[in-house]
Amino acid sequence: MMKILVTGGAGFIGSNFILYLMEKYPEYKIVNLDKLTYAGNLENLKSVEKNPNYMFIRGDICDRKTVEEAMTGCDMVVHFAAESHVDRSIGGPAIFIRTNIVGTEILLEVAKELNIKRFHHVSTDEVFGTLSLDNLEEKFNEDTPYSPRSPYAASKAGSDHLVRAFVETYNFPATISNCTNNYGPFQFPEKIIPLFITNALQNKPLPIYGQGKAVRDYLYVIDHCEAIDLIIHKGKIGETYCIGGDSEKNGAEIAKTILALLDKPKNLITFVEDRKGHDMRYAMDHSKVTNELGWQPSVTFEEGIKKTIEWYKTNKPWWQKVIVKNT
Ligand SMILES: NC(=O)c1ccc[n+]([C@@H]2O[C@H](COP(=O)([O-])OP(=O)(O)OC[C@H]3O[C@@H](n4cnc5c(N)ncnc54)[C@H](O)[C@@H]3O)[C@@H](O)[C@H]2O)c1
Repeated sequence: MMKILVTGGAGFIGSNFILYLMEKYPEYKIVNLDKLTYAGNLENLKSVEKNPNYMFIRGDICDRKTVEEAMTGCDMVVHFAAESHVDRSIGGPAIFIRTNIVGTEILLEVAKELNIKRFHHVSTDEVFGTLSLDNLEEKFNEDTPYSPRSPYAASKAGSDHLVRAFVETYNFPATISNCTNNYGPFQFPEKIIPLFITNALQNKPLPIYGQGKAVRDYLYVIDHCEAIDLIIHKGKIGETYCIGGDSEKNGAEIAKTILALLDKPKNLITFVEDRKGHDMRYAMDHSKVTNELGWQPSVTFEEGIKKTIEWYKTNKPWWQKVIVKNT
């Protein structure tokens, strides 16, 4: 019997991952440890909350005692919990250091003490810094040196380094994945895709940073869940895997696509002051996870954005409540 502790399971990717896991492995036991910050939402997990194989614990990964209680008896940890929004990290880095670095270190220590068999750390492509718009052939891969440029990216880089240090120092059984921008159901409408969809649905302006030229590589969230599923079951201990969507888009393209699909006027686009230290381009070479574990993105951006728009259209009460609660 497999028992997995998922941290941050009430957030965007974590809740998609729990739903995915419980459907694919109905016999697994899942413990979800989440502090329920502004980004955590138990409504995402309504369909499994009564399942006897699912347990929710409200708690902070920085609280050692809670972590010990949640992790005891688990075989594996999949660690999503984090402060995740770059703009918030620019406004106030401290909570990012606390949750993303201190919290990860506490999880690692407890997992080591409890002899957890496998620890998977979910990280981001942002730890690698920025690529230039002049050489579109260039991509990040597992050998790219770390060069974080926002407090968020620096805190995630710190957590990645700690996980690797535990592998080297204590022979700790960890894996890491660095993934590009995710989108899909249950994403908090501060991130670009859900923000633009919900604003367009309300006929509100779509605020584009700078000239709208910054490029991100987009991956449908379920593809990310599949990659993590493969890594935790078949990935090699001590290894890092880069995950990408082969879907590079800039902010202006995202806005135009969403407006066209919703049949809304282009004049909803407004250009706002650029993000401080804005990274210009992220792109990922995911050939290692493709060659070693047979993973590749299965949902194209064109399909994924349609599914995502449909989800936000049919789940208005979900995002309306989220917006009201956070304004
Ligand atoms: N969203 C992306 O595009 C993306 C891409 C690559 C990697 N990641 C990484 O994936 C993970 C999940 O991202 P997301 O977009 O789902 O984030 P999210 O902000 O939607 O969710 C984060 C969750 O963590 C919880 N949390 C925050 N602080 C906590 C604490 N101290 N203790 C316990 N729980 C806490 C929140 O309540 C929330 O439920 C993060 O580690 C992020 O860095 C995200």
